[in-house]
Amino acid sequence: MKVELPPHLRTYLKNLTGEQADRWTHLVRSPGRINLIGEHIDYTGGLVMPASIDKAIYFAARPLDTPEWRLHAVDLDQTTVLPLPIAGRTGRQWVDYLAGIGVQFQDQGQFLPGLEIVFGGDLPNGAGVSSSAALEGGMAFLLNILLGTQLSRPELAQLCKRSSNTFLQIPSGIMDQFASLNGLATGPIVLNCATLAFEPVKNGLNTYSFLLVNSMVTHDNSDGAYARRVTECEQALEAVRNTYPSVTHLSAATLGQLDAIKESLSKVAFERARYVVAENDRVRAAVTALEAGSAVEFGRLLNASHVGLRDEYEVSCPELDFLQSQAIALSGVAGARMMGGGFGGCTLNLVYSDRLEDVQAVLEQRYREKFHLDCTFYPVRLAAGTSLI
Ligand code: GLA
Repeated sequence: MKVELPPHLRTYLKNLTGEQADRWTHLVRSPGRINLIGEHIDYTGGLVMPASIDKAIYFAARPLDTPEWRLHAVDLDQTTVLPLPIAGRTGRQWVDYLAGIGVQFQDQGQFLPGLEIVFGGDLPNGAGVSSSAALEGGMAFLLNILLGTQLSRPELAQLCKRSSNTFLQIPSGIMDQFASLNGLATGPIVLNCATLAFEPVKNGLNTYSFLLVNSMVTHDNSDGAYARRVTECEQALEAVRNTYPSVTHLSAATLGQLDAIKESLSKVAFERARYVVAENDRVRAAVTALEAGSAVEFGRLLNASHVGLRDEYEVSCPELDFLQSQAIALSGVAGARMMGGGFGGCTLNLVYSDRLEDVQAVLEQRYREKFHLDCTFYPVRLAAGTSLI
């Protein structure tokens, strides 16, 4: 794939520094991600199957002589100046995503260089395709080059996760940043979130496409619901380990072990744990189904994942449930599920490619009738993880 800066960014850069395009010394592309299956599994140490996509945030950077970061968020039409060294959070979300990455390098003893950074792209915000991870990953990738720190991509993903968890106080897992930094254009990866070992998965579903349907309901992981799920999983793991100390991660427990300790768990924590163990098993089955090109089996797994997320993990919402149930009743749709943290964002649909247009037309009309909202569609194309352009 030939990678170029989107035209609106090129225009912005030109306006900022005139025709001296060479003043921008580094251009980085940092993609969004989808997750085929393995939802809410990363922070339980299990398996996930994400992929990096063709929609991305692009960064242009140039050195400054002054000890500051001059930051331009083109799509938000906002500019800010952050003095160096970075003292702490600023209270502005997009600035803090970048500042947090700088702080991780500072904490390793690095001296941050003065920089002007312009960023923007075509990655929708709040749609569940991880614009925040793309922001963190792109910044970490850029600083790694500028500082010559030679961190590997998995190490950069860990650094980004640390920034989310400790600087931003968001208790998210590692999947999003890992997928954005390590994704492949050829297919998804299967990632073991406990060891960070990962492998490419061959996509044998040649006549099918993955279609994202954006419910246009925006989600926010920083509200308490995501953090509560993390805590419930920790409680469930503790209860399992009281009886089975060799179980190191919740997703490594078995349904039999959960049944045996059911009485020591709240009903809610038990349901959450059942979902986690079943979803982790589904990822293994999904690798086999995808490589074998079985749309029926892969679709069945997507649907089962949605039911678990809706009923046991309780992270769906009426809009996502509607889009999912309507989609799977249509001819040409092998399966569908909500994707990402939940409470809004997108559904992921496995659609026979010849039926893509019909499926979109029906969903669009029914969604409008039901919720008076216009859903939007992104046929997914995979693209490589973070890179220098
Ligand atoms: C959000 C988090 C991820 C992951 C997903 C759910 O995207 O950032 O770490 O937990 O939700 O799978």
